[in-house]
Amino acid sequence: MSGADLITVDDLRVHFPVGHAGETVKAVDGVSFGVHAGETFGVIGESGSGKSTLGRALVLLQKPTGGRMLLDGMDPQALSMRELRVRRRDFQVVFQDPNASLNPRMSIGTSIREPMDILGDLPRAQRDERVMQVLDRVGLRAEFAERYPHELSGGQKQRVNIARVLTLRPKMIVCDEVVAALDVSIQADILNLFADLQREFGLTYVFITHDLGVVSHISDRIAVMYLGRFVELGDAQELSDNPRHPYTRALMSAEPTPLPKAMRTRERVILSGEIPSPVSPPSGCRFRTRCPIAQADCAQKVPEWREVRDGHWVACHYV
Ligand SMILES: Nc1ncnc2c1ncn2[C@@H]1O[C@H](COP(=O)(O)OP(=O)(O)OP(=O)(O)O)[C@@H](O)[C@H]1O
Ligand code: SF4
Ligand SMILES: [Mg+2]
Repeated sequence: MSGADLITVDDLRVHFPVGHAGETVKAVDGVSFGVHAGETFGVIGESGSGKSTLGRALVLLQKPTGGRMLLDGMDPQALSMRELRVRRRDFQVVFQDPNASLNPRMSIGTSIREPMDILGDLPRAQRDERVMQVLDRVGLRAEFAERYPHELSGGQKQRVNIARVLTLRPKMIVCDEVVAALDVSIQADILNLFADLQREFGLTYVFITHDLGVVSHISDRIAVMYLGRFVELGDAQELSDNPRHPYTRALMSAEPTPLPKAMRTRERVILSGEIPSPVSPPSGCRFRTRCPIAQADCAQKVPEWREVRDGHWVACHYV
């Protein structure tokens, strides 16, 4: 982790209790990484690998059950509820479903103003002024302030959601599958908007997706998540030129959406079987039940998370 990290995460865990026998879903089960200020940190992995749970923990919507986080030097566990409420504004999230944060009975202008209304630290006139500024910034005309969500397209609603979080002038935004629900034809517009806003405001993104095409486009670095843990992390270019973990290789070879040519692997690796249950993950390496190169000792030893090259981390005994 570098000194310029905005976020540092050490052995983070989020376990959910299920059933009666004290069982837990190990949604996030020991991840350590740093997010550099101003970068786009991509997180990729299959459905159920724990990406959203990790993202929710980073914006303080989900309390970790273990490990430590430092967000811009702040330890959330050391803060009172009141302090948390104020500091949390720096860490925002935009979700996949454009409707999720929009009240159908609230005008767009009021929806955008709402996060500022809740914080209540700006006079009303200034809040209204900021609403108009961010509307313009996300590419919507002023008249949209008077409209209602049902009058907007999915892409326009996602612009409104981005405007909502921008009003708080956050440092970091978790983007959780932000284009997954949109037509392919407008996905690029929204991704470009994110890129423009990052340049303009020096934003840091944690960009969560199961779409390798999207993540490779926008990310500076990429983390590959499997069953609650990171299996590989590295510079986006390095990861695409030289994927090391068998799971990353499989993801890259199976990718159905058009990947940049450099990212497509020649060999095609088919992953057999489903992702195992996060209630009782496989012993040793948790990818072993689907790994094409698994050996006997993969069931005994948990692979160490090690740096195989400058900034390129992998968890596999045989890399
Ligand atoms: N509140 C909860 N209570 C119990 N289990 C949960 C809860 N939230 C998530 N889980 C479980 O934790 C695991 C990880 O879920 P998560 O939503 O983080 O995965 P994901 O990688 O975002 O998946 P997707 O790509 O489908 O969005 C899943 O097995 C999920 O069922
Ligand atoms: S540790 Fe073993 S099972 Fe896990 S990825 Fe490496 S070779 Fe496959
Ligand atoms: Mg998710």
